[in-house]
Amino acid sequence: MSTLSKKRYTITSALPYANGPLHIGHLAGAYLPGDIFVRFLRLNHKDVVYVCGSDEHGAAITIKAKKEGVTPKEIIDKYNKQIKDSFEDFGISFDIYHRTSEPIHHELSQEFFLNLYEKGEFIEKFSEQYYDQEFNQFLADRYIVGTCPHCQNEGAYGDQCEKCGTSLSPTDLINPKSTLSGNTPILKETKHWYLPLDKYQPWLEEWLIEGKKGELKSNVFGQCQSWLKSGLQPRSMTRDLDWGVDVPLTEAEGKKLYVWLDAPIGYISATKQWAIDNGKNWEDYWKKPANPEDESTLIHFIGKDNIVFHCIIFPAILHAHGGYILPDNVPANEFLNLEGDKLSTSRNHAVWLHEYLEEFPDKQDELRYVLTSILPETSDSEFTWKDFQARVNNELVAILGNFVNRVMVLSHKYFDGKVLRGSTLTDADRNVFSELSKYPGLIEQSIGTYRFREALSHFMNAARLGNKYLADEEPWKVIKNDEERVKTVLFVASQIVANLAVLAQPFLPKTATKLFEMLNLPQQSWDQAGQVDLLHEEHQFGEVQLLFEKIADEEVEFQLSKLAQAKINNAQEAVSVVPPAKTNVTFDEFMKLDIRVGTILEAEKVAKTKKLLKLKIDTGIDQRTVVSGIAEFFTPADIVGKQVSILVNLEPREIKGIMSQGMILMAEDADGRLDFVSASSTIKSGSTVR
Ligand code: MF3
Ligand code: ZN
Repeated sequence: MSTLSKKRYTITSALPYANGPLHIGHLAGAYLPGDIFVRFLRLNHKDVVYVCGSDEHGAAITIKAKKEGVTPKEIIDKYNKQIKDSFEDFGISFDIYHRTSEPIHHELSQEFFLNLYEKGEFIEKFSEQYYDQEFNQFLADRYIVGTCPHCQNEGAYGDQCEKCGTSLSPTDLINPKSTLSGNTPILKETKHWYLPLDKYQPWLEEWLIEGKKGELKSNVFGQCQSWLKSGLQPRSMTRDLDWGVDVPLTEAEGKKLYVWLDAPIGYISATKQWAIDNGKNWEDYWKKPANPEDESTLIHFIGKDNIVFHCIIFPAILHAHGGYILPDNVPANEFLNLEGDKLSTSRNHAVWLHEYLEEFPDKQDELRYVLTSILPETSDSEFTWKDFQARVNNELVAILGNFVNRVMVLSHKYFDGKVLRGSTLTDADRNVFSELSKYPGLIEQSIGTYRFREALSHFMNAARLGNKYLADEEPWKVIKNDEERVKTVLFVASQIVANLAVLAQPFLPKTATKLFEMLNLPQQSWDQAGQVDLLHEEHQFGEVQLLFEKIADEEVEFQLSKLAQAKINNAQEAVSVVPPAKTNVTFDEFMKLDIRVGTILEAEKVAKTKKLLKLKIDTGIDQRTVVSGIAEFFTPADIVGKQVSILVNLEPREIKGIMSQGMILMAEDADGRLDFVSASSTIKSGSTVR
């Protein structure tokens, strides 16, 4: 049965952490696809609830609060509002945007815990965890920093080294320190409740791998398969945290439910609140009904970092609890990049939604359009401002906007904005109508298989059809000798415009509303799509409105300069975290160093090493061999002929069987990148550096 043939739907988009604003990557990952899908369902008269809300617990929040010097409550209130507003402004049409800090959510999460606890589903385990004796608390992974055992980065966190990307556990860190007190934490025994995912492995293989093969997108299916292949392990469902839902056991004082038993349950508590507010029964959307035909279809829209969460852990929890429906699909997206680089909150390499809205007020649909065209549906994709400009100018303005504008302007000019049939339809007219009637089906097929990019391109092709029809029929020429024919041409073209209004609704809600206003037509449901008599004889149009405007070069340049400025700011910040100054040396000690300007004459890679280059350097005194660890940053061709400072009186050393006579001096930044410090002109080899 097709995904779209059910009658009831429960649709969720990942709960964003209320610890910062949203950027375009969020929108493209979990929210635009969810919104398009839901709008489509509503247009088809489905019984649907679309829920989301802020994830307001966990270390992400408390760390942000600490950084800003405010309470966690202030953080969640601030960002919950900002995030909620951004969603609203972009027309993400949740039925409710809830918060996990609400009591109704705490109660439900605790109910889940107790249900599983009383059934004996958990295993209890003691483990040793880092504890800060000054602050009298266990430390969340993110509260511990130390040296990464893989890359020696001194700022690695207890869960991950952000420099080399390795995921870590706190005890992997060399020389761990608490970020609360700066002290070395002690290991202290603590008890936690684990869900034995290994126990559910056979069930998951059947339900997920056997049951959803061919239904899940390949990027999602692949991740699930590899998780199951490497064997599931028990997962802790509780944590020693100071901010979150209390574990509802007296012996668990000070412990909180971990994110798995908290955030996704937020989908259910949000539905409960919505049901209370709207006179509905939440169980219709979450519980298995007596009659399987009434079962709601549960679909989670998420980004790829949340796949295990929604395909394995949350279903296992729902299954263990019993009575709940399970996800029908989890159409996760990959990541969106920006101007050749990963989107990054900490580096401020992002297009923030609240800033976009200030800089491009009334251009929500433009961003929706461009992001939908490049959704990272099967692999990572990239947003660039040039491409944004090109898609707005060459597609929205030049195709859709232009077509609609010509039809409306000509109708007003020739016939006072009245729809008139004129003479009989020609073959060309009937052809266009029959082409037009195919698009709703094509779009439906694409949306039903979560191919939103493709769906949008069908929509644009319908606009192209209209554009081509006008260009072929040239009503502005025909008007000179056959007014009846022009009536018919504009009649046909207007039906295309009316269809575009219907078809635009899932993708471009503001534009669709404008189109209906211009057409003076009430909003239509999807049943009307493809029909060629949406406008009747003598129908009177409303006023012409401009749909889209071109994006100017200066606007693109401004955005690019903002991103460039963020890079500069980062570089400056990086400088401020350079290692502290070393202890003083005397002038005499300094004068012992003999540093000269050398010229690199030859360079070659040292066999079987990754980092080493063998250099031949003209020091002015002599030509000598130096082995240098710069091969990760320069190829021999990059550097031959370059000038460099060289310490010539360093004791010679044998490196990989080569005698290295001296050391070249280079700049190294906080990320370990090396570079030449350049001179403003060529200097004679052998000149001294002092
Ligand atoms: N807030 C978490 C994140 O952004 C979890 C979102 S998924 C949910 O990664 F299931 F918890 F909602
Ligand atoms: Zn590392």
